[in-house]
Amino acid sequence: MYVCLCHGISDKTLKKLAYEQGVDDIREIRKLTPLGSQCGKCIRPAKEILQEAALNTL
Ligand code: FES
Repeated sequence: MYVCLCHGISDKTLKKLAYEQGVDDIREIRKLTPLGSQCGKCIRPAKEILQEAALNTL
């Protein structure tokens, strides 16, 4: 499922970054991808996915 429609970034991509690179912050995601740089609607759902991924790694 796409989280960021503007840039075609999926939940799978975000989870991969979270699990494999330990990315747990939206700022880090935004340094690595263009997520949120157009309409910004994806920022909230992206944060939720990162939080969920962080909880699953506990
Ligand atoms: Fe991500 Fe528009 S959906 S910037």
